[in-house]
Amino acid sequence: MIKKVGIVGLGQYLPARKLTNFDLEKMVDTSDEWITTRTGIKERRIAKKTEAASDLAIPAAKEAIKQAKLKPADIELIIVATVTPDMHFPSTACLVQKALHAEKAACFDISAACAGYVYGIITAQHFIAMGTYKNALVVGVEKLTSITDWKDRNTCVLFGDGAGACVLKPVKSGGIISTYLGSDGSMGDLMMLPAGGSRYPATHTTVDEKQHFIIMQGRELFKIAVNIMSDAAHKALEKAGLKCQDVDCFIPHQANIRILLAVAKKMGLPQEKIYMNISRYGNMSSASTATALYEAVRDGKIKKGDIVVLDAFGAGLVWGVCVIKW
Ligand code: ACO
Repeated sequence: MIKKVGIVGLGQYLPARKLTNFDLEKMVDTSDEWITTRTGIKERRIAKKTEAASDLAIPAAKEAIKQAKLKPADIELIIVATVTPDMHFPSTACLVQKALHAEKAACFDISAACAGYVYGIITAQHFIAMGTYKNALVVGVEKLTSITDWKDRNTCVLFGDGAGACVLKPVKSGGIISTYLGSDGSMGDLMMLPAGGSRYPATHTTVDEKQHFIIMQGRELFKIAVNIMSDAAHKALEKAGLKCQDVDCFIPHQANIRILLAVAKKMGLPQEKIYMNISRYGNMSSASTATALYEAVRDGKIKKGDIVVLDAFGAGLVWGVCVIKW
């Protein structure tokens, strides 16, 4: 029998060090005024040199498991969504498993950039709904500052580091009521990290040519993000038999405040229904929706019975929406 699946625990971890727009003014030709008005970002968190993605993921995972009133040994599936894994392999999910002593869990990573957390939740939902696993831990984690070109003002002002996690289990009522995933590989060149894979393995040339950093065509992505995010949210709500007016809390990927407000406008959502933490953390890719959901629940913006919409979009291109009755 297909089971209803809900989120029963949440966690997050943010590195302590803050990098403000004023700090960035000393590093590249930019200004607090430009960054604030063009992106909505005021500061972002920066992980230590010695911290990798798994170091951020582990405390977030522990908190989510505790909130779910489970022990790591109970966890049956671990999915880590990241484009900044500790290393190509083993997967970051396996590294998290090791640290948690979650010996029972099957583990794998998902590469779906900023939509990774939503892809992870929907993947886990299917395993649980089919009865394959009784529960799952999903982590969205990024150390984007490790793949940021700190001399490129077009990108370095945007990104930050962090992690968010959730535990999913069968629920009697509420839970995930509809989902929608999409991709368009033909636009993959709008945002990529070209080297370090099998196409362009690391060489002195790839390093000299800065091919191990994020390259992005921001202006093009901006328009596409607004259209795709609003269209995808409409599709997922329609599948759930709901309208935009039924949404109590809208949690979009935190790429740019202007994108979020444009999506909300297209959907006819008032600003108070959109959860935004971009001013404090910037764009943390898969960790953005994860920490935004965590904080919205922690701060009482989401109550039992509310309709919550997670809506993410990222490099690939990929997008995903999850409609949840809390
Ligand atoms: N400080 C000052 N000036 C800057 C900066 C900066 N940090 N960055 C760019 N500029 C300049 C540009 O050089 C340009 O100058 P020019 O007109 O003399 O050429 C001018 O500002 C305008 O540049 P635009 O690129 O048109 O600026 P825009 O308003 O589009 O904002 C931004 C750029 C913030 C990148 C925006 O386009 C954006 O947010 N795009 C979407 C990003 C996104 O959604 N990415 C995908 C998801 S993220 C993921 O997958 C990890």
